[in-house]
Amino acid sequence: MNLTPPTECAAWTRLLHHAESWRGVHLKDIFSNDVARSTQFVAEAPGLRYDYSRQRMGAMTLRLLANLAAERGLPEWRDALLGGKPINTSESRAAWHTALRAGDGAPAEVRETLARMQQLCGEIRTKKQFRRVVNLGTGGSDLGPRLLADALADGALDVRFAANVDPHDLGRALEGADPASTLFVVVSKTFTTQETMANAAAAKAWGAKAFYAVTSNVEEAKRFGAAEILPMWDWVGGRFSVWSAVGFAAACAIGFEKFGAFLAGAREIDLHFAQATVEKNVPALMALAGVWNANFLGCATHAVLPYSNALRLLPAYLQQLEMESNGKRVDRNGREVGYATCPVVWGAEGTNSQHSFHQLLHQGTQVVPSDFIDIASNAILSANLRAQADALAFGSPDGYPGNRPSSILYLEKLDARNLGRLLALYEHKVFVQGIMWNLNSFDQPGVELGKVMAKKILSGGK
Ligand code: F6P
Repeated sequence: MNLTPPTECAAWTRLLHHAESWRGVHLKDIFSNDVARSTQFVAEAPGLRYDYSRQRMGAMTLRLLANLAAERGLPEWRDALLGGKPINTSESRAAWHTALRAGDGAPAEVRETLARMQQLCGEIRTKKQFRRVVNLGTGGSDLGPRLLADALADGALDVRFAANVDPHDLGRALEGADPASTLFVVVSKTFTTQETMANAAAAKAWGAKAFYAVTSNVEEAKRFGAAEILPMWDWVGGRFSVWSAVGFAAACAIGFEKFGAFLAGAREIDLHFAQATVEKNVPALMALAGVWNANFLGCATHAVLPYSNALRLLPAYLQQLEMESNGKRVDRNGREVGYATCPVVWGAEGTNSQHSFHQLLHQGTQVVPSDFIDIASNAILSANLRAQADALAFGSPDGYPGNRPSSILYLEKLDARNLGRLLALYEHKVFVQGIMWNLNSFDQPGVELGKVMAKKILSGGK
């Protein structure tokens, strides 16, 4: 597997020259000269369509990017990921989140844990001994389950989330609740995260008695006094863990059947990712379009614009997934990279975003490649989404430069299966970009210094 800097790849050098040929080329001319473009630069995966025709790329660009993927050894890396090989080399671990949604092919401990989750989830949703479930966790132990519950909760159970150590956050989660009928799910892979442990202690001080834990640190959870401990494993990264028991509170909010559909949707994308050639492989195409924009067209940020209130938490989820994975300046060999890596990922739900920062997208000095996500829920939403993508691409003589790239992801509808598909897409996109940039996408060394310094300050040190 290729561990050399991507800049040493022949395809990289050719892409640099090729990018020169794109200077002064405008998308509106591209479209008027190629009537088939909007049907050619499209790829399909189960339940969705990826339209990248408004990306500033042509057939030659795609070919060179596919060559780069080949030179980087993408197929071997992909097989290693899906095969549970220890590709998280700095931590000597696999990154085997796909095993969590492998159905009957999943490891026994995964199937046992899912069966236990199903049983507990069913009891909690039917027996009603708990009127409130509160998920205590942060980062990957919060963003994924919070997104899933926020998008698909059916109202059968009041499930809330508290991540911030600011007591205001736990206060919101406990509004109107009483200790006797509130279940806390303390979610922490390490069971050492300061904020989560502080909130768990605050819950105890509030009089709470019922605690479940989700962790790979079972001994610590036992010491804490959790009545039920659902395991997770060191071969699952926090930001890739919503498919595990980390998703327990969300499963309580949406029902276990939907949680099963969520896993099944992601599995379909794993199969698509494993089998489709690069030119037809949606996660790979999303990744390569991102590399083209960041490394060859010089775009430093990337916007995610879901035209869906139910997906309002998606940008925050993707910020961790993308930026904690590939926000790195040292490659797999420990060498400082000489090229751009992960762009700053940001975004918000449409059309609210139109009345906020789209001014900059259309007329600012920064060119911001964007992902629009259409869940076909409403004609006004879809019309505005399409209008924004076209205006960014084609501009107009009265002050809209246009030539601003975007892609549109069309989902047939938003349900658990499609949400699973969508998140798995982005996971594999992130993985492919890590391979293109020669990064280990599965560790996060950069988060440690601040934690150590905060502890020192708290203990009275400087
Ligand atoms: O500090 C970053 C991080 O380690 C994330 O990678 C992780 O998702 C989050 O903190 C929470 O960690 P844990 O689940 O161990 O509490």
